[in-house]
Amino acid sequence: MDLDRNWPSLTESEITIIESVEQFARDVVAPVAKHHDETGEFPTAIIKQMAEMGLMGMMVPEQWGGSGLSTVAYAMAIESISKACASTGVIMSVNNSLVCAPIEAWGTDAQKEKILKPLARGEKLGCFALSEPGHGSDPAGLKVRAVKVDGGYKISGSKNWITNGREADVCLVFATLDSALKHKGICAFLVDTKSAGYSVNKLEDKLGITASSTATLFFDDCFVPQDALLGKEGEGFKIAMTTLDGGRIGIAAQALGIAQCALDASKQFAAEREQFGAPISKLQAIRFYVAEMRTKIQAARLLTWNASRLKDLKRPFSQEAAMAKLFAAESAMWVATKAIQVHGGYGYTKEYVVERNFRDAKITEIYEGTSEIQKLVIAAGEWDGK
Ligand code: CAA
Repeated sequence: MDLDRNWPSLTESEITIIESVEQFARDVVAPVAKHHDETGEFPTAIIKQMAEMGLMGMMVPEQWGGSGLSTVAYAMAIESISKACASTGVIMSVNNSLVCAPIEAWGTDAQKEKILKPLARGEKLGCFALSEPGHGSDPAGLKVRAVKVDGGYKISGSKNWITNGREADVCLVFATLDSALKHKGICAFLVDTKSAGYSVNKLEDKLGITASSTATLFFDDCFVPQDALLGKEGEGFKIAMTTLDGGRIGIAAQALGIAQCALDASKQFAAEREQFGAPISKLQAIRFYVAEMRTKIQAARLLTWNASRLKDLKRPFSQEAAMAKLFAAESAMWVATKAIQVHGGYGYTKEYVVERNFRDAKITEIYEGTSEIQKLVIAAGEWDGK
């Protein structure tokens, strides 16, 4: 990461934190990433250390258990962690962007005291349950129901593709009071995953990010008290959309980390691998690949930092976050593909990290809004003033 270029300007303490995250990622996370990828084992010990370093609630004010850092610093930290292990990167990103952030933005002081504090300290883990079997890209028509009962609500139905679904202590779930109202009927609830009627039904066997769980959740008349409602009735869709705007910065940064790992590995391999009597790094074909990798990564990084900076300035950033995610995700996929090409046959084997980078990169074009959805958001910013 080009911290030395000093754009955007970070505070001295942020630079110190980012440098310690970079060192932690290199010394602690990277050495066990292959193990976690191969076994699918959740990186419990690493997440615990990250919690102690204040990385699970980075942007949450200190008053509510977080580190009170900027989105720019958060994006840099996600990049460093994801460069070492993309599974760990998404676990961190979901807790920070998709769970802590909406509670901080929409929660009552009581919700912040009781639910946000332990999440931001990393004592508890959160998941974000919006997608359903029939509603991925189009969540406005979601079908999970919330029925008003004495003292609260009962939630019923299925959510799927939920990152952290297996381990989460708190589930931010979106349910509708009346599906005929479309997005205006949706509410957001903070559900304790130990509640009766809440269960984890299925775990996906995935192409990449294998050490982060992706679960189907089932709500069987799951009772939640009135104070589990986040925001007001009918505000759920807005909460989901504004949350995803911030989440997309996290995924852009994750994609950057994956791409940077693939580039670093390609440079090292090309410097060592000899063909035709010289290192292949001397070949123009390889140099052109590396030049394009470097350019795409740096452009994606600047887009990601720009979206982060706008968010920190409390200016509109939906379009910039979508551009950052679109470009970073597609760049990561491109870089990982070329990284395998640079490695030749070796790159197609599990012995080299670029094989994992290739599998991990793909999801960044899909979750928190596919590349096609990012284009809709970007285009809406052009015509519809969103
Ligand atoms: N911020 C605030 N409000 C927003 C908004 C935003 N970014 N986007 C839309 N809205 C508001 C609109 O202003 C509108 O409000 P009014 O009714 O008051 O006018 C309302 O929401 C409806 O807007 P649209 O008509 O534009 O909504 P739509 O149904 O056409 O959807 C969409 C727009 C951008 C395509 C949206 O559906 C979307 O983002 N889809 C992708 C969903 C997604 O990213 N899913 C990923 C799931 S999470 C995940 O991956 C989990 C994980 O574990 C990693």
